[in-house]
Amino acid sequence: MPTYILGIESSCDDTSASVLCDGKVLSNLVANQEIHKSYGGVVPELASRAHQQNIVPVVSQAISLANIDKNQLNAIAYTRGPGLLGSLLVGSSFSKSLSLGLDIPIIEVNHMQAHLLANFIEDCSKEKPTFPFLGITISGGHTQIVLVKDYFEMTVIGETLDDAMGETFDKCGKMMGLPYPAGPIIDKKSKLGDFDKFKFTKPKVDDLNFSFSGLKTGFLRFIEKESELNSKFISIELNNLCASLQNTIIEILFDKVTKAIKSTGIKNVVFGGGVSCNSGIIKKFKEEKNDFKVFFPKFEYTTDNAAMIAMVGYLKFKNHLFSNLEKGAKSRYNI
Ligand code: KG4
Ligand code: ZN
Repeated sequence: MPTYILGIESSCDDTSASVLCDGKVLSNLVANQEIHKSYGGVVPELASRAHQQNIVPVVSQAISLANIDKNQLNAIAYTRGPGLLGSLLVGSSFSKSLSLGLDIPIIEVNHMQAHLLANFIEDCSKEKPTFPFLGITISGGHTQIVLVKDYFEMTVIGETLDDAMGETFDKCGKMMGLPYPAGPIIDKKSKLGDFDKFKFTKPKVDDLNFSFSGLKTGFLRFIEKESELNSKFISIELNNLCASLQNTIIEILFDKVTKAIKSTGIKNVVFGGGVSCNSGIIKKFKEEKNDFKVFFPKFEYTTDNAAMIAMVGYLKFKNHLFSNLEKGAKSRYNI
C-alpha cells in the first residue's frame, strides 16, 4: 500500500502544501505573499492574515494536483516551528482540524530539520547523503552548522551570534534600494559584477559561530560615505557592490565550513535553506579541488516549501513518530 503524506508549511511568509507518495513529490504548491515587498521585510500580522486566506485553496489544490482524494491521505505533517507564531498557528490549527476531520495521525516537523532533510526527497534523482554529515542551514532566520548523525539526531555545533545569512543579503539589499527579498537579486546582479572590486571586513568570531552584524554595518557605512562623494554611487556600482558583498559572505561561509570539516573529520556537507540556492555558494563548494562531498537540495526545495515538511512527515510516519493535538506551535524550536 502506498503512503500518502500531506505537508503544510506556514512558518514565515509562504503558504505551502504538498502531497508525497512514498517520499516522491506528487504536488508542491507555494503561495508567496507579495504584500511584504512594499514594506522591505515580512510584517508578521499581515503574514498570518495572508496564510488564513491562502491555506484552504492551497491545500485543496495540492490534493487535487496530486490526483488523489483527501480520504487517501495517511497522515498530515505540519511545521511546528521555528518561525513567526501567528503564521505557525494558522498552519498548525488547520492541520490539527483536518487530521481530526479525516481521522488520520498528525506529525509535527521542525522547519530547520526539514530544510536539511529536503536532500532526501525522492524526486531529487541524485545521490542521497550518507550519515554522519555536516548540515549547513542558511536561510532568512538561521545560519547553523549541524552535526547530523541520523535523520533525527542533530546537534548544532555552530551558529550565528546575530543576523542570519539571508537576513544579511536582504538588509544590505535594502540599503542599496533593492526590494525584499534581495538575496536572489544580489545573486543575479553578482554575475555581472567584479567580486574583487570592494573589500569588506570579515568578522573574527571564535569556534564555528558566525556573525554578520559587523559586515552589515561596515557595508552601510561604506555606501553612505561613497554616496556623499557621488550621489549616483550605488546605481553606478550596483553590480560590483552585489558581487563584492556576495563574495565576502561566501568566503565567511567557506572558512567556517572547512573549519568544521577539519575539527569533526566529517567530509559530507549537506546544505539547506533559502540561501543554499545561491549560485556563487554552489559554485564555490562544488569546486573540484575541494576534498569533501557536497549536497544541495533541488532548487524548488531550497526556499520554504511544504515538500520538505511532507518528506520529514514520511520519514517520521515510517518510524511511528506521531504527534498529538496538545502540541502547540513554537516560535523558538531547536533543531
Ligand atoms: O528558507 P527560506 O525560504 O526562509 C526562511 O526559513 O528564512 O529563506 C529565505 C531567504 C531570504 O533571506 C532570501 O533572500 C534568501 O533566502 N535567498 C537567497 C537566494 N534565494 C533566496 N539568498 C541569496 N541568494 C539566493 N539566490
Ligand atoms: Zn526556511
